[in-house]
Amino acid sequence: MSRKVSVYRTAHFNAAHRLNVPQWTDEQNKAFFGLCNNSNYHGHNYDLQVCVVGEVDEVSGYLIDMKQLKVYIDEEVIEAFDHKNLNLDVPEFSELNPTAENIVWVIWKKLRNRLEDRFELSVRLYETPRNFVEFNGK
Ligand code: NI
Repeated sequence: MSRKVSVYRTAHFNAAHRLNVPQWTDEQNKAFFGLCNNSNYHGHNYDLQVCVVGEVDEVSGYLIDMKQLKVYIDEEVIEAFDHKNLNLDVPEFSELNPTAENIVWVIWKKLRNRLEDRFELSVRLYETPRNFVEFNGK
């Protein structure tokens, strides 16, 4: 009998960013993004939830080795983003506005590259305890 199970792994990172659209004027950026447009950046404590869905292996009883999932998250997200300035230090955001929507998309793509095709992947990113986004590739 097949069993589809969702496994979750959480992670945390701190990062600075500035939301700004280069094609807009300073006034437009300030009016639209408010404090998030602060020219000297500001920080967030990001919380990440990674959800992997798939069939449980009948022999091992595992869906995915969580130790391996942790390594993927550490290498792709924590080492790349933690204590970084997303705009200046992370190449993916050199021309992509580091909104939560775009950060979760970048994280999803990085983790998707590390996972076998048989898994479904969904990533949720909390920018604050009350503001969060989710992307599952669709
Ligand atoms: Ni912000």
